[in-house]
Amino acid sequence: MSSAPNVAIVGVTGAVGQEFLRVLDQRNFPIGNLKLLASKRSAGKTIDFKGKTYTVEELTEDSFGDVDLALFSAGGSISKKFGPIASEAGATVVDNSSAFRMVPEIPLVVPEVNPEAVKGIELGKGGIIANPNCSTIIMLVPVTPIHRAVGVKRMVVSTYQAASGAGAAAMAELEQQTREVLEGKEPTCDIFPRQYAFNIFSHNAPITETGYNEEEMKMVKETHKIWGKNDIQIAATCVRVPVMRAHAESINLELENPIDEKEVKELLSKAPGVSIIDDRAGNNFPTPLEASNKDDIFVGRIRNDISRKGTGVCGIELFVCGDQVRKGAALNAVQIAELLVK
Ligand SMILES: NC(=O)c1ccc[n+]([C@@H]2O[C@H](COP(=O)([O-])OP(=O)(O)OC[C@H]3O[C@@H](n4cnc5c(N)ncnc54)[C@H](OP(=O)(O)O)[C@@H]3O)[C@@H](O)[C@H]2O)c1
Repeated sequence: MSSAPNVAIVGVTGAVGQEFLRVLDQRNFPIGNLKLLASKRSAGKTIDFKGKTYTVEELTEDSFGDVDLALFSAGGSISKKFGPIASEAGATVVDNSSAFRMVPEIPLVVPEVNPEAVKGIELGKGGIIANPNCSTIIMLVPVTPIHRAVGVKRMVVSTYQAASGAGAAAMAELEQQTREVLEGKEPTCDIFPRQYAFNIFSHNAPITETGYNEEEMKMVKETHKIWGKNDIQIAATCVRVPVMRAHAESINLELENPIDEKEVKELLSKAPGVSIIDDRAGNNFPTPLEASNKDDIFVGRIRNDISRKGTGVCGIELFVCGDQVRKGAALNAVQIAELLVK
């Protein structure tokens, strides 16, 4: 495609949709016409972008006639219905929901990890590309360079997930509950079935028959697909914490070949999309607040796993933070689109 693509954002009024606009603006992504789509509820609202005012339109089956790139973030059922319609109409879809992630012929892409997966897809000629789950992206950006160097055999990960991962309404509920609890009132629980402010709880995704929840299983299955390796052993525990924005993860790695903490730090200091905050003397390590509104995944607490000492098995521990609305969703999707315009 020689001219700037016509772009549609589906779910533009949501947490990820709003972030799409910021990322497209900040990265100066080439845009011909821009179409802003959401539900009937938002039709007629206006949104400013790069000095122009746009009116939000209701998403319909006829929305995609003149669209080359459709960035979807309106939930799985909307993607399932309208993704194929957009692709049929000629728009290349980059989808943030889980609707297509595990469809074998649909690429599941983290640009720092497997950019080659978009090969053969051309903007304006249809096709669907899936954006992985935010926790998977935040884990794989720093872990992939280690995997490529010495091979990951097993990963044990625990997440500390922010309200923004559940959308704009969950962020508003955390804010409202915080105020209510401080004022001694009963907290309003509309989005989550329990108090979120001043509390933590197991991720709200449904529990599967193994006892793991769907969020945890996404981290397992999506990693296998992205790395093209189904024998990596992964166990995840996903938890919501009352943080407004940016997820944190504690990651324990068992490695095929030896590497030590200094070599890991050196490797990650050169890795794309990674910043290191690992100041042991100052006890200063990544926090969700520092990671908020940033592109990179921040890595610290890089250390040899002492439980492996003398066992002949190499283990490394990491603590990472990443803005999941940004790198976990909007930024990653725009980086995928950039692979197609280059
Ligand atoms: N938040 C994250 O960090 C994150 C990360 C990765 C992936 N995702 C995925 O991205 C998607 C959106 O998440 P979000 O956090 O941005 O949610 P959100 O803040 O709740 O926003 C949802 C968006 O979808 C739109 N929508 C709802 N029903 C619609 C309909 N019938 N037709 C057209 N648009 C409709 C909403 O429009 P109205 O305002 O008009 O209702 C709104 O723009 C979800 O699939 C989510 O799993 C989110």
